[in-house]
Amino acid sequence: MSQILMVCLGNICRSPLAEGILKAKTNHLDVVVDSAGTAAYHVGEQPDIRSIEIANKYGIDLTSQRARQFSVNDFDKFDKIYAMDSSNYANIISLARDKKDRNKVDVILNESNPKSFQSVPDPYYGGENGFQDVYEMLEEACDIITQKLEKR
Ligand code: 4NP
Repeated sequence: MSQILMVCLGNICRSPLAEGILKAKTNHLDVVVDSAGTAAYHVGEQPDIRSIEIANKYGIDLTSQRARQFSVNDFDKFDKIYAMDSSNYANIISLARDKKDRNKVDVILNESNPKSFQSVPDPYYGGENGFQDVYEMLEEACDIITQKLEKR
């Protein structure tokens, strides 16, 4: 059983999409996927309508998700924590209690572009295209994560 947490800033745009995509890809595996935000601005809210719509286009339903804030307990509940960008990464690392916690954290695009520390751009203040781009980046990374999980 693997437990994977996707983390962005608000938990309404990028990490809900990452959660939905990875859940869809790992349907056949014993994997738990969740998401959270480093900030509390949108706690309790549904994902952004633009994330819901882009996911819908690919047959993925995000409407049952609700935003929550990342907490230090998540280091105990998850084996792997994927940050969407370098700022999320730094915020999560700043909450880590020890090396074991730190070793669980990575930037998600390091899966598709190893050691690049590239960020999934925050699409919140942009247009629809931003969401399409985010979807494609996350789809590629989640494909690689799924292939790794299949080999475990
Ligand atoms: P997310 O996008 O981190 O991908 O969920 C954002 C959502 C909300 C805000 C920033 C980013 N905000 O400032 O409210």
